[in-house]
Amino acid sequence: MDAAFLKSAALENQYPPPDRPEIAFAGRSNVGKSSLINVLVNRKGLAKTSSTPGRTQTINFFHVGKELCFVDLPGYGYAKVPIQVKKTWQKMVETYLRNRPNLKAVVLILDIRREPSGGDLELFHWLRYYKIHTIVVCTKIDKVSQQEARRQANLIKKEFAEISPVDPSLFSAKTRKGREDIWKRILQCLDTPNGERGNGTKGNESSRV
Ligand code: GTP
Ligand code: MG
Repeated sequence: MDAAFLKSAALENQYPPPDRPEIAFAGRSNVGKSSLINVLVNRKGLAKTSSTPGRTQTINFFHVGKELCFVDLPGYGYAKVPIQVKKTWQKMVETYLRNRPNLKAVVLILDIRREPSGGDLELFHWLRYYKIHTIVVCTKIDKVSQQEARRQANLIKKEFAEISPVDPSLFSAKTRKGREDIWKRILQCLDTPNGERGNGTKGNESSRV
């Protein structure tokens, strides 16, 4: 897949022009957002990854093919980040999510081994409130057995259902399992009419858990 780094931005006036549909990747720090982007576009080092949480600190835009943009957002929930920096990141992410007119969907990434954090639930609530289509992905499934993955995914599903029903895709950046499924869901939401930022997660998709 033809993909290229386009721009890194903190402020709205630094964003590239909203000239093509955009998909943003959000989630806790170190969950695997950048790794997921790299697997989707088949380019190992495109989005910078790191075992140290807090690697992505600005909003990074990538052109994917000729008609799509991926956006790597800074992660949340990393305890060692000073409160002032946290606030700046939160504002940066919220400003982007609220105002980006070409945003088609947010891929919300969770670690299959963890219960959703307060930050995860808060973000999901917020995405529902602003009617931003959300694709939930549970990643790092290579770290657990298949049975454990199913169990954990059901638990995550249950917690999210308190806000709105979700149908998580299971993924591993290591084995690349789940890649096709996530692409399918991304391409599906590009079909929503222009100017409409998606209508939630209650589609007619089959259960993936
Ligand atoms: P920040 O930018 O710091 O918020 O992190 P991020 O969410 O972009 O995470 P990143 O992709 O940098 O991955 C963090 C660490 O998790 C790296 O060491 C990755 O190699 C590892 N990782 C990511 N996805 C997977 C996965 O599916 N399986 C395994 N085993 N490791 C993964
Ligand atoms: Mg990152």
